[in-house]
Amino acid sequence: MNLETLIYEKRNNYSLVTLNRPDKLNALNKQTFDDLKFVVKDLQGSDDIHALIITGAGEKAFAAGADIKELNASDSSTGAEFSRYGSRVMAELEALNIPVIAAVNGFALGGGCELAMSCHIRFASENAKFGQPEVNLGILPGYGGTQRLPKLVGKAVAMELIVSGNIINADEAFRIGLVNKVFPQSELMEKTLEFVQLVLSKGPKSVRASVKAINASELMFLNEGLEYESVLFGETCGTQDFKEGTTAFLEKRKAVFIGK
Ligand code: COA
Repeated sequence: MNLETLIYEKRNNYSLVTLNRPDKLNALNKQTFDDLKFVVKDLQGSDDIHALIITGAGEKAFAAGADIKELNASDSSTGAEFSRYGSRVMAELEALNIPVIAAVNGFALGGGCELAMSCHIRFASENAKFGQPEVNLGILPGYGGTQRLPKLVGKAVAMELIVSGNIINADEAFRIGLVNKVFPQSELMEKTLEFVQLVLSKGPKSVRASVKAINASELMFLNEGLEYESVLFGETCGTQDFKEGTTAFLEKRKAVFIGK
């Protein structure tokens, strides 16, 4: 599918989105959010796509932030909407019930870091750099950085990063829990695809139910979340894949899931 700012590929049961403005370090402009919104909507209606990878074109950047040229035109009446639009698209991305994996291949700054944080899993290349440098621009993070970063790394570390605008490397991002794994750049996509293949070998319905339940953990009180988990558990017990998975275990063979 041809979109203006990104490449959207549907492969065998997974999709790959490549942010594609490498000459601008894949900075996120309004068109990028329009394009991402299209992708999210398309995936919401795709029963045969069971995982999404997001990466950046080129070897330098995942995304170097919101497009500062567009941002520069904001004022006190339009700024909130600028923030709200990107924030909503990222929230919709995060709410997808398939695993969304950021393959962070370089700079993930500002909106780029926020986009990576709205993905469910982050794999990074050794040259990746993370940060929320908005204080250098006279603003604060506007696409969820103040909300998701503390959840991922704790309040104090998030505070330190956001009020200083400090940029950290991939090892430090791993140490604080911002990324799941770090790979040499030449192996990032291969390792990400290996992970996706592992997920695709599981029962798609149980993977989706797991993602839904984990996403709900951030929106519900514990008692509600536990009840939601039980409801989803009951639903998975009604699937053919559940019968296959448990029977295969008892018959000491590998399960073959069909997604039903
Ligand atoms: N918005 C718009 N354009 C951006 C951008 C952004 N966030 N980040 C980079 N670019 C553009 C540059 O303007 C430049 O375009 P040009 O060639 O037309 O002048 C191009 O991408 C390459 O960037 P450049 O700054 O020359 O690369 P560098 O290797 O010297 O520096 C960074 C890389 C990431 C350190 C630097 O680009 C940077 O600080 N970017 C902004 C990061 C930021 O503040 N993000 C938060 C935004 S809310």
